[in-house]
Amino acid sequence: MNQKNVLVIFGTRPEAIKMAPLVKELESAPGLTPIVCVTAQHRAMLDQVLRFFEIQTQTDLNIMKEGQSLYSLSADLLKGMEKVFQARKYDLVLVHGDTTTAFIGALAAYYAKIPVGHVEAGLRTYDKYAPFPEEMNREWIGRVADMHFAPTALSAANLKAENRSAHVYVTGNTGIDAMKWTLQAPFEHPIQSKLRKNSRFILMTMHRRENWGEPMKGVFEAVKRVIQKHPDIEVIYPVHPNPVLQEAVAQELEGHERIHLTEPLDVVDLHHIMQRSYLVLTDSGGIQEEAPSLGKPVLVLRDKTERPEGLTAGTLKCVGTKGEAVQAGIEQLLTDKEAYRSMSKAHNPFGDGTASRQIVSAIQQFFQSQGG
Ligand code: UD1
Ligand code: UDP
Repeated sequence: MNQKNVLVIFGTRPEAIKMAPLVKELESAPGLTPIVCVTAQHRAMLDQVLRFFEIQTQTDLNIMKEGQSLYSLSADLLKGMEKVFQARKYDLVLVHGDTTTAFIGALAAYYAKIPVGHVEAGLRTYDKYAPFPEEMNREWIGRVADMHFAPTALSAANLKAENRSAHVYVTGNTGIDAMKWTLQAPFEHPIQSKLRKNSRFILMTMHRRENWGEPMKGVFEAVKRVIQKHPDIEVIYPVHPNPVLQEAVAQELEGHERIHLTEPLDVVDLHHIMQRSYLVLTDSGGIQEEAPSLGKPVLVLRDKTERPEGLTAGTLKCVGTKGEAVQAGIEQLLTDKEAYRSMSKAHNPFGDGTASRQIVSAIQQFFQSQGG
């Protein structure tokens, strides 16, 4: 097989975490040369990940603007991509998941008539506004992709039901591969010294666009009520830097002595802190996949999830964002030992940490099947 140039495009924190193990695997794969293009849709949160995994980038579009809208973000990404595809010829473009970087990256690759591989393919809620705009981003990428790397049999089945049956591979999620790196790294963080002896803590994150405003307020109220009722409970909440969220969190949660608000944590710290947490409260996608590996129950701050495998496995529960339901969900896990035990089985339906290797081997076979 001739040497193939594989352009790997990503731009946000979760994409970086999940693409990093794949870039590492590509670096040591015979016949494949990875070329990393970061859009920097996120800046600081992306750089945290690049530093930890020591990823060398060939192109950095540096497009992040404070409070960027979906319109300006998409336009800036597409303009940046034009330069990337004019500069050089690639044999394959890899994008990840459901961000605007991923969607525009796939669109630009299509304009350049280069095959697209979609990592973390086939997740669906089939509700175009939940999550927004991620559900449509991944459906559009699925339409244009030539190779679909589905994390689970269920996501592969979604693709097959949409008639995308060629080149669908079930590989597991590369996010689980990333945890092998992070959990082996040393951990020390100042937050540890702020926690009281014998307290239990909840790790919380919340950033989704559809949860801005009232839903977020409902959750914050629930968290405050739980803290008030249960003196042994603390919360660690690394707050996403989006100005909309920063303002909401400052208004509702600042100044509570058992609610520890922090900057976004380095992924190593986040994973170690998750490992020490009692339970996880989140609307994040990636965290729903990671926590089950550590046997941590996850209360999902959404009405539906594109990761139903976790619901079936019993490690995730959707509590939505209505204050009473969120409070009830948390309190059940704090007080009902059997409910806690049944959700805290360390079992992960999202992969066994070998996804990157499986994806690389599928790519090699893909090129071979095309005559190399
Ligand atoms: C994006 C993705 C979302 C993903 C999330 C992961 C889209 C439309 N959304 O949402 O799917 O779940 O990332 O976190 O692709 N900011 C900083 N520093 C950073 C990162 C962000 O200051 O390192 C601030 C900026 O003001 C930026 C804002 O956050 O404008 C929003 O970032 P953006 O990527 O547009 O949206 P997210 O909500 O992060
Ligand atoms: N994460 C992190 N630091 C934080 C919060 C999250 O490193 O302060 C990691 C988390 O472990 C997971 C990823 O970021 O790997 C999830 O990103 P996010 O929740 O922003 O996006 P989503 O997965 O919802 O798209």
